[in-house]
Amino acid sequence: MAFPPSFIDELVARNPIEEVVSQYVQLKRSGANLFGLCPFHGEKTASFSVSPDKGIYYCFGCHKGGGVINFQMEIEGLSYPDAVRALAKRAGMEVPEDAQYQSRYRRQERLWALHKEAARFFHAQLYAPVGAEGLAYAQRRGMTRGTLTRFGIGFAPNSWSALVDAMRAKGYTDQELRDGGLVSEKNGRIFDRFRNRLMFPIIDVRGNVIGFGGRVMDDSTPKYLNSPETDIFNKRKNLFGLNLAKRSKLGYLILVEGYMDAIALHQHGFDCAVASLGTSLTQEHAALLSRYTEQVVLIYDGDDAGQNATRRAIPMLEAAGIGVKVLRMRDAKDPDEFLRKFGADRFKVLLEEASNRVEYQLGSIMRKYDLENDEQRVKFVREAAEMISTLNSPVQREVYGGRAAEAARISMDAMKLEIKKAFQRRMARERKKREQQELAPAQALQPKSRAIRYDNIKSAMAEETVIAMVLKEPGLLEQTKGLQCSEFSSPLLGRIYEELQLRYRRGLEVAAGVLEDLSEEEMSHLAGIVQRHQEPVKEAVLEDCIRIIQAEHRAGQVSSEEDLMALREKFKEQKGMKS
Ligand code: GTP
Ligand code: MN
Repeated sequence: MAFPPSFIDELVARNPIEEVVSQYVQLKRSGANLFGLCPFHGEKTASFSVSPDKGIYYCFGCHKGGGVINFQMEIEGLSYPDAVRALAKRAGMEVPEDAQYQSRYRRQERLWALHKEAARFFHAQLYAPVGAEGLAYAQRRGMTRGTLTRFGIGFAPNSWSALVDAMRAKGYTDQELRDGGLVSEKNGRIFDRFRNRLMFPIIDVRGNVIGFGGRVMDDSTPKYLNSPETDIFNKRKNLFGLNLAKRSKLGYLILVEGYMDAIALHQHGFDCAVASLGTSLTQEHAALLSRYTEQVVLIYDGDDAGQNATRRAIPMLEAAGIGVKVLRMRDAKDPDEFLRKFGADRFKVLLEEASNRVEYQLGSIMRKYDLENDEQRVKFVREAAEMISTLNSPVQREVYGGRAAEAARISMDAMKLEIKKAFQRRMARERKKREQQELAPAQALQPKSRAIRYDNIKSAMAEETVIAMVLKEPGLLEQTKGLQCSEFSSPLLGRIYEELQLRYRRGLEVAAGVLEDLSEEEMSHLAGIVQRHQEPVKEAVLEDCIRIIQAEHRAGQVSSEEDLMALREKFKEQKGMKS
C-alpha cells in the first residue's frame, strides 16, 4: 500500500466530495443526493449524482463513479498518488512519502523527462548532417523554421541505436526506454523503434511530451508509426496541438484528422487547430474539448472514411455541449493540401461558409440522390425526413423541412407528414427496444463492463445488496460474520466484501470512496451499486441475502463436483475402461 490507510481516511474526510466536485460541476440538491451535468461524458440533462453521506459520485449516463480521489484523478487526468497530493494540498495536509509512492511517482516523472530529452534529441538531428533528408522533406512539405520550432518537429536517424545510445548516455535505463515505448526488442536486445522518420512530438495540455508520431518520407508503409500506449500516453484522452490551441484567441477549435493538417493550419494563422491521434473521436476527447471551447469546426477528409468519422463525431460533440460546424473540403483532399494550393484567405472563406451540422447533413443526403429521378426523390424525402425528425426544435424542423421539400419539389404539407411518420417510426423502434430489454432482465442486470460480468445473477444481486447495506451501516458487518468472501459468486464483489470486513475489524473507515486496489472500472461499478440500491436497510433482507448467497454457493459446488464426476465417466468410456 502506497499510503497509510489512516492517512487516506483522514484525507477523504477532510475533502468532502460535494465540495471538491463543486469546483468543477454546478450541483443541485435533490433528496439525499446532489445532481449536475456529468463532466466526463457531457450531456444536457443532469445524470451525474453526488452522495455526500456515502462519499461517492456516480453518473447514471456514462456509469463512471467512485470516491473523491477517483474524481480528482479523472477530472485532472492525474495518477493516484498525484490526486492524493492535490487533495492533501487542498486540505492543508502533509503527505507521508513512502518508498513505493516515491518510486511510482518518480517513474512517471522519469518518463516525461525521457520524452523531453528524446524530443530534444530528434529536433537536434533535424539540423545535423544526418538529418539533411528530414529537413529537406519538412521544407518540401512547406514547414517554416518557426513551425519546426513551435511544434518541436524532429528527425529519427536511419539507425538501430541512435536514440538508445543518446538516452543511455543521459542516464536512462533500458527498462525506462521500454516503458516509454521508444524501443523495440528482439532476442532480448532493444533497438530504436523510430528510424528514418520525421518526428512529431505529442504534447499533453500540461506541456509534457508524452509520445511521438513518426512519418516516413516516401510512400512506404506504415506511413505513420505512433508511440504505443504507455503509463503516460493514451490516444483516447489526448489531442495533438491542444497544448497550443488552448491559448488561441479565435474562440473556437478546429478538429482535423492529420498531424500535418493541424500544423499547416497553425502556420497559416489558424492557431486553434487540433488533431486526433489516428483514432476516431472518443467521449474523452469530446469532454476534453468542452473544457476549452463551446464551438468546434470539424474538418475531416472528403472520402467515405472521413464522412463516416464526421457522422460519428457530431453527436458525441453535441452531447458534450459543444456546437458543431462542419467544413466540407472541396478541391483538395485535406486542409494541408488546400492551404498549400489556395492560401489562408480562401480557407477563411470556407470557414465562414462552414455550415451547421444540420445543413451539412441535409446536404450530404441530397448529394446521395438524383433528384430528377422520381424513385430517388421518394427515397430522398424519406431519408431527409428521418434526419429532420431527430431535431428537437420545431423551428429547425420547419426550416429544414422546407428546404428538403423545395429540393424534392413537394409541398410543405407532404413533407411535414413524412417527418411526423418518421418520428413515429423512431418512437416505435425505441419502444420495441425498451420492451425487449425489459423482457431480458438478466441481461439488464449485467454490469456494463464485460470484465466484471456476473456468472450467477441471482447470487450477485444478493451480494450487491449486502455490500450496499454494510456500506450504509458498517455495524451490520458484525451480523454478516458468517458470510465468507469465498462464498461470493462474483470475484470482484467478494474482494470488496473482504476489504470492508478487514477495514471494519481494524477500526478503519468503511466507505466506498476509501477503497484502494480497485481499477477505474471496478470503482465505477461499485459506485453504481451504491447509487442503485437506495432501499432502506432491513436486517431481514440482509439475512435473506446471506441465505441466497450461501445456498447458491453450495449448489454451485455440488454441480461442479457432479460435472467432474460426469467428465471422469466420459473419459473412462472413451478409453474403453468402463468397469
Ligand atoms: P500526410 O500524408 O503527410 O499529409 O499526413 P496526414 O497528417 O494528412 O495523414 P492522413 O490524412 O493520411 O492520416 C491522418 C492521421 O491518421 C495521421 O495524422 C495519423 O495520426 C493517422 N495515420 C495515418 N496513417 C497511419 C498509419 O499508417 N499508421 C498509424 N498508426 N496512423 C496513421
Ligand atoms: Mn495530408
